[in-house]
Amino acid sequence: TESRDLSGKTVLITAGPTREKIDPVRFLTNHSTGKMGYAIAGEAVRMGAKVILVSGPVSLAPPKGAEVIKVESAEEMYQTALAHFAEADVLIGTAAVADYRPKYIFDEKMKKKEGDQALELERTKDILFELGQRKEAQVIVGFAAETNDVEKHAMGKLTRKNADMIVANDVKQAGAGFGADTNIVTIYKKDGSKDELPLMAKTEVARRLLSEVVLLLKKDESK
Ligand code: PMT
Repeated sequence: TESRDLSGKTVLITAGPTREKIDPVRFLTNHSTGKMGYAIAGEAVRMGAKVILVSGPVSLAPPKGAEVIKVESAEEMYQTALAHFAEADVLIGTAAVADYRPKYIFDEKMKKKEGDQALELERTKDILFELGQRKEAQVIVGFAAETNDVEKHAMGKLTRKNADMIVANDVKQAGAGFGADTNIVTIYKKDGSKDELPLMAKTEVARRLLSEVVLLLKKDESK
């Protein structure tokens, strides 16, 4: 028996990497494949949700039943997520959004020259933070890709980004984080509790995380 605990709910998910253009042939990006976000989207559909998946460039097949909106840059991802935030009951940020982008995009391919070349970068918007500021009744779940002091950084993100839950993965552990079909996560909640999960398939991480989301939605409804 499948749980349809998300029926009637709209779940907005960001997934994958972003691409920040340098010139017509080059960009800055990272190792995200979208697997974590697409797994959550698939599970949320199975649980009855309307799913809007805002995805950076990945090579995965779109999850059946989800509305997929493809974007490239952090700015596009931000604008698209913002446009759908008001209709969402749940926001889950799995995307590895670039924190910096080239300050100038060259119109023509950069030519090589003698010596070093510096690239000036500017900050992008923090999507989770921006939407956290606009939070009404939404349940907000962030991810944290850390390489050290996982707990400290995860708890910092929980408060700073006005999130209800942070799912931390130590991306230096084998079988966790970028690219793998599995993940090793610890779920940090606003009440200070944490749930350390062993290595499991990203689909199973998705199920665990969404069942926590269902509990939070029920709590809100009983208020
Ligand atoms: O895609 P996969 O290959 O399956 O890999 C999965 C993953 C490692 C990308 C995923 O599990 C993960 O950890 N995603 C978050 C990656 C990240 O950028 O973490 P962060 O600690 O830098 O960001 C914290 C949170 O803020 C995240 O929810 C992120 O989506 C969000 N953020 C960050 C920066 C920014 N400009 N906008 C954001 O919304």
